Amino acid sequence: MRIDIITVLPELLKSPFEASIMKRAVDKGIVSVHFHNLREYTSNNYKQVDDYQFGGGAGMVLMIEPIDKCISKLRAERHYDEIIYMTPDGETLNQSMANGLSLKKNIIVLCGHYKGVDQRVRDLFITKEVSIGDYVLSGGELGAAVLCDAIVRLIPGVLNNETSALTDSFQDGLLAPPVYTRPATYKGMEVPKILLGGNFPKIEAWREQKAYERTREIRPDLLPEK
Ligand code: ADE
Repeated sequence: MRIDIITVLPELLKSPFEASIMKRAVDKGIVSVHFHNLREYTSNNYKQVDDYQFGGGAGMVLMIEPIDKCISKLRAERHYDEIIYMTPDGETLNQSMANGLSLKKNIIVLCGHYKGVDQRVRDLFITKEVSIGDYVLSGGELGAAVLCDAIVRLIPGVLNNETSALTDSFQDGLLAPPVYTRPATYKGMEVPKILLGGNFPKIEAWREQKAYERTREIRPDLLPEK
């Protein structure tokens, strides 16, 4: 998968791709990530990327011209499956969206800033608008990092033990069950006996039960209505 990220703050975004799972995906050649600084696509001397909004009101708006130049250059080089805009008024990211996006070959992620982008950018180029939750960030960069992490770890070959993404929370519509490691007793607190017995069908049934209980307690909205 190729990911092109368009941003006014590339330095805010780089470190997540230089550590952990995303670095592993890049090092293995499964994912390539390319940062495009919008300021390099300006045609004015001040490298200005934003301006006041028509009609008045607080906050700057990212201008269409540099975004058009950047996206048009990329689109002339290859086909993109999605051109995503990170914005709090987009569709909320969830596991099913991440699963779908992990199957794509080339995606562009445009990070908003200030009051956002000129609406004509959204009308003309954007195929998907994504929010990472109902709160407002200073820009789309941290949202883009979250989105990319959620996608990249699902691409086959990225995680060492491929089944581990399958047992994550949400993959079966439930939260994940509790997990334990050594020691079996810590300050008097015991690991559930069933996990130590080696009866795998029983362990599986216990895990399913716990996943269900945890979901019912913390996120009942995930369960189908009765
Ligand atoms: N930009 C600002 N807030 C955001 C959010 N919640 N999700 C995605 N991009 C954003």
